[in-house]
Amino acid sequence: MPPVSIAPSPDTPHYPSDMDHLQQLLIERHSIRRYTAEAVDADAVRLILQAALLAPSSKSKRPWQFVAVENKDTLTALAACKDFGATPISRAPLAIAVVADPAESDCFVEDASIAAAFMLLQAAELGLGACWIQVRGRFAGDGTPAEDIVRDTLGIPEHLAVLCIVTVGHKDEERKPVDPDKLLWEKVHVEKWQDPA
Ligand SMILES: Cc1cc2nc3c(=O)[nH]c(=O)nc-3n(C[C@H](O)[C@H](O)[C@H](O)COP(=O)(O)O)c2cc1C
Repeated sequence: MPPVSIAPSPDTPHYPSDMDHLQQLLIERHSIRRYTAEAVDADAVRLILQAALLAPSSKSKRPWQFVAVENKDTLTALAACKDFGATPISRAPLAIAVVADPAESDCFVEDASIAAAFMLLQAAELGLGACWIQVRGRFAGDGTPAEDIVRDTLGIPEHLAVLCIVTVGHKDEERKPVDPDKLLWEKVHVEKWQDPA
C-alpha cells in the first residue's frame, strides 16, 4: 500500500469503506517513467499479471495475452518501437506487452485496455511506478509500425494485435497527487447533455 499522504478536500465525495484505499490510490496514481535499477520481485510481478487476468472482458472472451519481459537487450529493442514516448521501456526492469486476438472478440481493444489499466492500478497499489506505452497505431521514425517491431522482437504471431506495453519498476521520480478540486466535473452531465455555459 502506498502511504496515505493527502486528505480529501471537504468537497470531495468520500465514502469510508473497506475499499477506502482505492479512492486514495486513484488520487495518488500517476504515470511513472523513471525507475531505479532494482528488479521487481517475483510476487509483485505475479500480482500485476493476476490483475490483468482478473480484468472484465466483453462476453468474458478474454482475448488478451501478456508477454512479461525482463531481459535488458529485449527491453532496449522494444524501446525502439517508436521515436517518441517509448524511452521508459529501456529504463524499466520489467515491461509487459499487452497483446490481443481481434478474431476472438470485436472488443479486443477495450478488453486489452482494461487489463492494462488493472495492471497500472495493481502496480500503484504495490507502491511501484508504471506507465502505459502506446503501441497500436504508432510508428518508428522510418514508418515501420510499432506493432511489427514489438511482434518481431517478442516472436508474437502475426494475427495478434499489440496494444501497448506496460512498464513497471521501483520509482525514481516523485509525482504530486492529483488535486481532487481540479477534476473536470464540467465533463460530467446529469440526466441530459448540457452545453457549456
Ligand atoms: C492510451 C494511452 C496511451 C499512452 N501512451 C503513452 C506513451 O506512449 N508514452 C508515455 O510515456 N506515456 C503514455 N501514456 C501515459 C499518459 O501520458 C498519462 O496517462 C497522462 O499524461 C496522464 O498522466 P497520469 O497517468 O500521470 O495521470 C499513455 C496513456 C494512455 C491511457
